[in-house]
Amino acid sequence: MPAKREHWASRIGFILAAAGSAVGLGNLWKFPYITWHNNGGAFVLVYLACVAAIGLPVMMAEILLGRRTQMSPVPAFEKLGNRGWGLVGFLGVLTGFVILGYYSVIAGWSIKSFIECVGWSINGYQQPADTAFGKFLSDGPLQLLLAFIFLFGTALIVWRGVSKGIEQAAKFLMPILLLILGYLVVRVMFLPGIGQTFHFLFRPNFSELPAAGVLEALGHAFFTLSLGMGVMITYGSYMHKRESIARGAGFVVFLDTLIALLACVIMYTIIFSVPGVAESVSGSTVGMLFVTLPRLFYTELSGGVLIGPLFYVLVAFAALTSTISVLEVIVSFFIDKLGFKRSTSTVIGTAAVAVCTFLSALSLGAVGFLSGFEIFAGKSGVLSTLDHIAANYLLPVGGLLTTLFVGWFVSRKISADELGMLDESGDPTFSFKLWLFFIRFIAPMAILAVIIAVILGKDFS
Ligand code: TRP
Repeated sequence: MPAKREHWASRIGFILAAAGSAVGLGNLWKFPYITWHNNGGAFVLVYLACVAAIGLPVMMAEILLGRRTQMSPVPAFEKLGNRGWGLVGFLGVLTGFVILGYYSVIAGWSIKSFIECVGWSINGYQQPADTAFGKFLSDGPLQLLLAFIFLFGTALIVWRGVSKGIEQAAKFLMPILLLILGYLVVRVMFLPGIGQTFHFLFRPNFSELPAAGVLEALGHAFFTLSLGMGVMITYGSYMHKRESIARGAGFVVFLDTLIALLACVIMYTIIFSVPGVAESVSGSTVGMLFVTLPRLFYTELSGGVLIGPLFYVLVAFAALTSTISVLEVIVSFFIDKLGFKRSTSTVIGTAAVAVCTFLSALSLGAVGFLSGFEIFAGKSGVLSTLDHIAANYLLPVGGLLTTLFVGWFVSRKISADELGMLDESGDPTFSFKLWLFFIRFIAPMAILAVIIAVILGKDFS
């Protein structure tokens, strides 16, 4: 038998770790970018609806699976279902390899941007050549170094365990992240572009929302809340029985959404404040976070010497608490299912991820045959292909199966009891019935719509 299950040492432990998992590159890089492309307002509203109507109920379902069984995804599905359902957990572990394989590479870029900004803050800003970022991407050894530094840092924390590693890291990193974010928000409030930002974000105009934007909003809700691959099952399994799942999930969803919106406020306001920049941003994906912003920090903002480095500390910390959660799913699988020690599991898990990372890091131009192939139209190379597979196929399928499992196979009694939603006479409360309705009908149908849309050719990555 494995040793007694580890638990978060404090109530805030789960919340900070789960929020840390949710808040990541999805909030700081992907959300501002897709919101920009979908013309703001109406897209934001649809996204908020997806988060509330699907994200929140599904997160509660994942946490309840983990907490009820006190097990990581594979044994959790097996215990409440059967061996076949265990495959859903296994799919999550596989998805973990895929996500971590490319996410660590992009996360590594934040280290580079940070070092570059520190250099500019000390020595004065020097405008990089237009080709500089492309050169950086195709510098194989540098990409490998940065991604492996990131992966190694992630592994060190996971190695230390649930409360001593993950919880401690989240307790240290998340407050700093919030402070930096708060400072940046206050700072941009006084820039001339703030009015235009609010107009863009909060004035819905549905004629400007591309039809595909609705499904993109849903797909992103899954990614940004870390749903569909068992992170919340795993983190839920370390949660004490006395805590409220609905409250924990509600807080994580709220914080994640708030931070995504604040990231937009910060980035858009800077962009809108400089004439002519808004038009040139729209064309590129990585451009906004890693190319446009650093330039504006130094050329257009007073105090940029401080904001520049701080901003990339923020990005790195947000990414780190996310990569930790993905690795933990993999490591807890080895611990629970194969009976390995945490240290052994961490080494094996990280080594396996490193293979994916290795291939991704070299697929940005460094190695021709890794960069050039195209399985999905417009997605060339390993990194884009992995991102595409994860966001478009693995997460929605994992999410759909999880929802169906909890909604239709786990008994109502177990769910209501675990959610603490039974009244004095032992009957499910109204909140429970509402939740069940969303889990049984709304969420699966919406996810199915995404999957069908993907099959018909819409891309969410
Ligand atoms: N939610 C994180 C982000 O927004 C990424 C992430 C971490 C994730 N763990 C996950 C995405 C599990 C999907 C599944 O950056």
